[in-house]
Amino acid sequence: MTGHFGNKIRICAYLAAIVGLYFLTSQINHFLGEGQKRTESMGGAVAVSSGEETPFSQTEAEQKKVALTFDDGPGPYTERLLDGLKERNVQATFFVLGEKAELCPETIQRMHEEGHVIGNHTYSHTQLNVISCEQALEEVERTNQVIERLTGERPDLLRPPYGECRDMMKKNLDMVITLWDVDPLDWCTLHSDIVAKRVIEDVKENDIILLHDIYETSVDAALEIVDELTEQNYKFVTVDELLFP
Ligand code: NI
Repeated sequence: MTGHFGNKIRICAYLAAIVGLYFLTSQINHFLGEGQKRTESMGGAVAVSSGEETPFSQTEAEQKKVALTFDDGPGPYTERLLDGLKERNVQATFFVLGEKAELCPETIQRMHEEGHVIGNHTYSHTQLNVISCEQALEEVERTNQVIERLTGERPDLLRPPYGECRDMMKKNLDMVITLWDVDPLDWCTLHSDIVAKRVIEDVKENDIILLHDIYETSVDAALEIVDELTEQNYKFVTVDELLFP
């Protein structure tokens, strides 16, 4: 009885084991199949997402920085330049004269509000190395006060007219003297295409470009330069972004 009953249990256990094994195997296959599919679909998703992300991050990494700077303004064409830069979402650096800033306060405030950097180009375009150190500091300070009154911010950057100033003055100045790398001589070549071509041919990564927004041709050239260099994967930044990233 025990034996017969025991045999029955053994057969049942044996059958249960087979069924169980079959069930387990099918589950494992099912799981592996699903797992494989998930991996495939994840692989697909990764490939798609990296396909979207890689060119973007590479483009960011490969973008070459360059800074547009405008001296001697504001002038009659500065607002048009600001419109063009705004359309292109480009920020520049303006080295303004104190006496002109006083005449165009709204333009200075607009520059500041639209993210451009305002630097100091002295009050009346004085060559700083032919006057006394005290007079030179006064030219600079007077302009700093005009800009600070209009924007609430004191300039950090000074571009001395003609790029000249005494070493003695540099020691007494808490500003960064900013010169330039690319000078297309826009003030004597009043032809926008020629000015733009010179810049586009000469420019390289991290250069500072010098233009004057008091000439209509320079304003046109500036916008041509932005369009062409943007195509060439340049990114326009302000001078302080270039010097102190
Ligand atoms: Ni100048």
